[in-house]
Amino acid sequence: MDRIRIIGGNQLNGEIPISGAKNAALKLMSAALLTDGTLNFTNSPNELRDISSQTELLEHLGCVVTREENRMSVSAANIHTRTAPYELVRKMRTSILVLGPLLARFGEAKVSLPGGCAIGTRPVDMHLNALEELGADIKLEQGYIDAKAPAGGLQGGKILFPKVSVGATENAMMAATLANGTTVLANAAKEPEIVDLGECLIKMGAKISGLGTEKITIEGVKSLNGAEHEILPDRIETGTYTIAAGMTGGTVTLKNTRIDHLSAVLGHLSQAGIEVEEQGTDIVVSREGERLQGVDIMTEPYPGFPTDMQAQFMAMLTVAEGAGMVTETIFENRFMHVPELVRMGADISVQGNSAIVRGVGGLKGAEVMATDLRASVALVLAGLVAEGETMVNRVYHLERGYERLVRKLSACGANIERLK
Ligand code: UD1
Repeated sequence: MDRIRIIGGNQLNGEIPISGAKNAALKLMSAALLTDGTLNFTNSPNELRDISSQTELLEHLGCVVTREENRMSVSAANIHTRTAPYELVRKMRTSILVLGPLLARFGEAKVSLPGGCAIGTRPVDMHLNALEELGADIKLEQGYIDAKAPAGGLQGGKILFPKVSVGATENAMMAATLANGTTVLANAAKEPEIVDLGECLIKMGAKISGLGTEKITIEGVKSLNGAEHEILPDRIETGTYTIAAGMTGGTVTLKNTRIDHLSAVLGHLSQAGIEVEEQGTDIVVSREGERLQGVDIMTEPYPGFPTDMQAQFMAMLTVAEGAGMVTETIFENRFMHVPELVRMGADISVQGNSAIVRGVGGLKGAEVMATDLRASVALVLAGLVAEGETMVNRVYHLERGYERLVRKLSACGANIERLK
């Protein structure tokens, strides 16, 4: 199994290009199922493993997907099955996002239930309830979601989400674009990736208003067309490298990103002593003072502090001065990085969904392993400042969501390499 070896202690200095957002790209690829026209994307994070998994799933359905440098095109002109099988869906929960589009365009879809995953049970009840509100008949059989639209197609409706869900908002929004009449999504998620998806759908001919607010209104249309769309920059990758620069104490320019999508993260990082300056579409990150300071955070739906930045923030707190409390409110089991950070010398105690992190003078390199994407990158961050060698196992988690991580960090002076 491939591993990443880091010898800690080097400052990061230089430039890091930010890739297109994984969590937008995957949903945008699903949106291609709504039309027989072609979607052409730029700024696509084509090297990510999740993008390959999604490509595999779409190709299984009959899509033609081409990827070249950071361009991607997806055509769903010739779909030959509406069934997404377990072996493809289980790799990535986002696969559930093919359900709404397939159902809306073809009147039927069968998608494997994604099952649990390392960071919690992650149910899909809100996705299914939303589609039922649009008239779908849904049965769960032998691990599959079997969904059928009424004879005349899905019907617009009012959907009130009991809890903010990124995925359920996206599934319902995509399905509603082709439903008869108007759909209102209340208590919708406001994440920038949803706005990006909605903007692409509008270019495809959808009628959507209220993007980025908790009430999204969709007026159904008969059909959608192909479109060109530039994928927004990855705010989680941006935040991760901001913390990397701050922890190592160098000055790093993050190229081609959006500072406005990171307000909650940057607010807390500035309290901790990481300075960020906006220069057009770049941001320049540096550290103020010798040591960072402990700060409390609580994860919340956007515009709150993202759950996808929690592990990285915790890695930073392990070497800060004083203590910080991390409270995770989105997922019930998202502290798997804690025992690994403790093996590197961190002082963390967990009580329920909160962790108290007391900063220590320094971490020590160790052999570590993590079971999800953001937890893995948190260990890389810790390795960058730890004394001696850190070996991160299960590199495939990192490759799901960070393009060219080793190259981006080593170009800024990190002593990091991938071992076969
Ligand atoms: C979530 C994050 C998203 C992150 C992604 C990957 C939030 C609100 N969402 O999106 O920012 O990029 O994970 O880590 O921070 N839930 C249900 N029933 C459902 C769907 C969800 O109970 O049908 C629950 C989930 O278990 C969770 C909460 O709702 O507690 C939010 O989940 P949701 O936003 O749907 O998850 P993702 O779309 O995976």
